[in-house]
Amino acid sequence: MLRAFFIWLSTSRWLRALAERSAVGQRMSRRFVAGETIEDALAATRAVNRLGMSVSLDNLGENVTSPGEARRSAQLYHQLLDAIAAGELNANVSLKLTHMGLDVDEALARELVSGLVAKAAAQQGPGSQDPARAAFVRVDMEGSAYTQRTLDFVRELHRGLGQNGKSHAGRVGAVIQSYLYRSEKDVEQLLADRIRIRLCKGAYKEPPEIAFQKKSDVDANYVRLMKMLLKSGVYHGIATHDPKMIEATIAFARAEKIPPDAFEFQMLYGIRRDLQKSLVEQGWRMRVYIPFGTQWYPYFMRRLAERPANVFFLLKNLFR
Ligand code: FDA
Repeated sequence: MLRAFFIWLSTSRWLRALAERSAVGQRMSRRFVAGETIEDALAATRAVNRLGMSVSLDNLGENVTSPGEARRSAQLYHQLLDAIAAGELNANVSLKLTHMGLDVDEALARELVSGLVAKAAAQQGPGSQDPARAAFVRVDMEGSAYTQRTLDFVRELHRGLGQNGKSHAGRVGAVIQSYLYRSEKDVEQLLADRIRIRLCKGAYKEPPEIAFQKKSDVDANYVRLMKMLLKSGVYHGIATHDPKMIEATIAFARAEKIPPDAFEFQMLYGIRRDLQKSLVEQGWRMRVYIPFGTQWYPYFMRRLAERPANVFFLLKNLFR
């Protein structure tokens, strides 16, 4: 009930406008968001890198409504890729297609994202033999209205060649949500092309016609898909804060003798820092997803939906 309520709130334009402009809202958002500027994001990246973890940087924003906004979003990602390369940071970027104008003009979104993937493919970066260190663009997965188009996009980008003839393969990746019934088929198809996948449970409200509703079913599918990914020999991201999913992944990797550098765990900025640290201490790879920017409201509300207890935690800290 509460999850559905927060997901519904995350779509309210009125509350969003109010929250994003208010000082209290901005203060609360800092629990999960690194700040508003590129400099804030880079400072957070350096701090996370110092802890022995890699980063994926996400400039918050989704469902832009004009070509100009889409172009500005892409421009910011160009700056991010340049700053990561210049600072030799252990980081890549994550973006949403609706932030690149998918709802406005699909051809424009294709042109913008393809420009970013071409830039990543042209960048060597330190240790670029290691897939974790190569410049890379992750295309986040949004609600089910976008699933097919997003996967088609990633497949097309992965097969593409940049202007300088550099292959995009390995420089762009997809996200799969274990709550969707279709995900097993999608994983098979992506693996046939050796496309890098981030596996997560899924953050949107989806109906029973297309998605598991029970946590136990979502989790069982997560474990099934995780095994497919780990056995594939492609470098994937296992994105979860759920200790049960993490234990299942570690047990499977050990049983199948899959080395710790063959995949990475991924977690969100500000969530389960203790677990992030302890996994790194045990020798596993960890990438922290760092969101930043002024448009933090929908992302922030989806995080509250995952754990409504966070609301009390945030309020307590606010009045402390
Ligand atoms: P689950 O929700 O079952 O939580 C397990 C435990 O984790 C909880 O008991 C709690 O201890 C902890 N936890 C989880 N969420 C928390 C929170 N907000 N605050 C505090 N503790 C929390 N989704 C999507 O649809 N598209 C995408 O592209 C992405 N991308 C993405 C990247 C990365 C790096 C991560 C980690 C997650 C995503 N997600 C996502 C979100 C994902 O689908 C999912 O909603 C959340 O990760 C929560 O699911 P868990 O696997 O953590 O388990």
